[in-house]
Formats: sequence, structure tokens, C-alpha cells
Amino acid sequence: MRIEPASPKVGALVTGLDMTRMTDAEWHQLYQAWLDHQVLVVREQNFTIPQFLAVAERFGKLTPHRVRRTRDAEYPALTRMGVNTRKPDGKVDQAVFARGQGWHTDGPWEVRGVSKATQLYGLEIPSIGGDTWFANMYASHDALPEALRQRLEGVQAEYVYGGRERLGVDLLDPDDRDAPPVLWPVLRTHPETGRRSLYFNPYHFLRFTGMDEAEGNALAEELKARMIQPDAEYHHKWHKHDYVVWDNRCSNHAAAGGYPIDQPRIHWRATILE
Ligand code: SIN
Repeated sequence: MRIEPASPKVGALVTGLDMTRMTDAEWHQLYQAWLDHQVLVVREQNFTIPQFLAVAERFGKLTPHRVRRTRDAEYPALTRMGVNTRKPDGKVDQAVFARGQGWHTDGPWEVRGVSKATQLYGLEIPSIGGDTWFANMYASHDALPEALRQRLEGVQAEYVYGGRERLGVDLLDPDDRDAPPVLWPVLRTHPETGRRSLYFNPYHFLRFTGMDEAEGNALAEELKARMIQPDAEYHHKWHKHDYVVWDNRCSNHAAAGGYPIDQPRIHWRATILE
């Protein structure tokens, strides 16, 4: 197995490993690389669904995504990304097509536990576009001006699926749309690395607890402007059969879009709680 940085500050590229037959030593090396780099790309995997889900279970607790309509019928913990992009009338279903676009971390709205990791497996890749972008949130924390960092100590943000604008809420079944907000500190200590990171997700953001609305809006805009450090990004260009897993506690990501609607972009996805 070879592990090399995918970019100077976030992501690692792994080659020469079959994840379905990892030794314990390889697993420990891989897991440590994941903690060190926040995102791992493992090339040339050949998974069945049970094998893909078994890998997820090594990272944490596998859990079905709140969006029921994209769950696999036999394996509910598997989400099928990029299928059913057209409505019955033939029009593009933007909620499906544009899913994951805009910087975010997965599951800050999750009421069942801490959204630790997400993994994707590329099955059909468009000829252009369709990349996934990643950003290192430790770097975002470290780049905050000291006065702002001090101001953020103890500040909590509240999250609901789709945030204020309820983006992508059409993907949810009506009964799942009104879950209560979940609170997270804006500055967070990673439970395994002990490192401090900025934890902010504009996509699912509702408000800062107890903060005046105008002040909260101004703070959200400031964090939005600061949260992506251009020298701490990795843009992943998918190859078929790439496996990618990221740490939601210290990274943000965005589906870049920009691929032709008539070209399939299909991934398996699994959501992993701590
Ligand atoms: C996601 O945001 O979970 C998916 C990202 C992607 O489709 O590239």
C-alpha cells in the first residue's frame, strides 16, 4: 500500500490496497492517514454492496440517511446518489441533480448521533465536471484572526436539514421535515486528534443560539467568507471505482456540479456516526 498527500493540506491518495482484504496493520495505517489528512481517496476498489457497507462499519456506526427515497430497497444504509435525476414528466429534478452542491459538512442536523464520516464509491463518472471539493477546517480555524477566535469561544450554531432556505428539503418525506434543530459549537475539538477546527455549515445553518438576528447574520457571512482557505483545498476528479471517505468533524466538501445532465454520475454513499 502507498499513501501520499493528495494536496499540501488536505486529502491523501492510497494505491495498492484491496480494502476487502485489509490486514489489521493496513487498516490501522489507513485510519491514521485518514485522521491526519481528513479525506482519503483509495483507487481501484471493487466492492459488492455488503463489502462497501462492511468498510463503513470499520469507521463507525452505519446509519440510513434521513432521505428515504434514495435509500437502497434491500440495504437501507446505502444511498444511491445520482439516480432518478428526472421527474416523471422528463424535467430535471434539481433536488436530486444538485444534491451536495454548496460547501457543507454532512449531518450537522443529525439527531441520532455525531456524523463522523461519509464514504462514496464512484460507479459512473461523467466525462467532464462532477468533481468533489474538500476543505480542511483545522486550517480554517488556524487562519481566524485572534479577536474573532476569542469571540467564537462558546458560540453555538443551530442546524436543520436544508437550513433557513430549506434547500433540498423536497428530498425528505413530509414526516421527516420537522426534526428539531441540533446545536454545535462553532469551534470544535476533534475527539480523536485533539485539534481545534472551525465547524460551520452555511448550507444547513439556522441561527446562532441566543444571538440577535442581525448580529448572527453578519457573523454567518463573515464565517462563510473565511471558512474555505484556498491553500487548504483538494479538488477530487473522480475515476470509476474510486472510494473516498471524509471526516465530517474537521472538513467541509461540495459537489462541484458542472457536468452534462445527460451523462450519469452515480455513486454509492454511506453515512457513519461516531
Ligand atoms: C455529498 O455531499 O455527500 C456528496 C458529494 C458529491 O456528490 O460529490
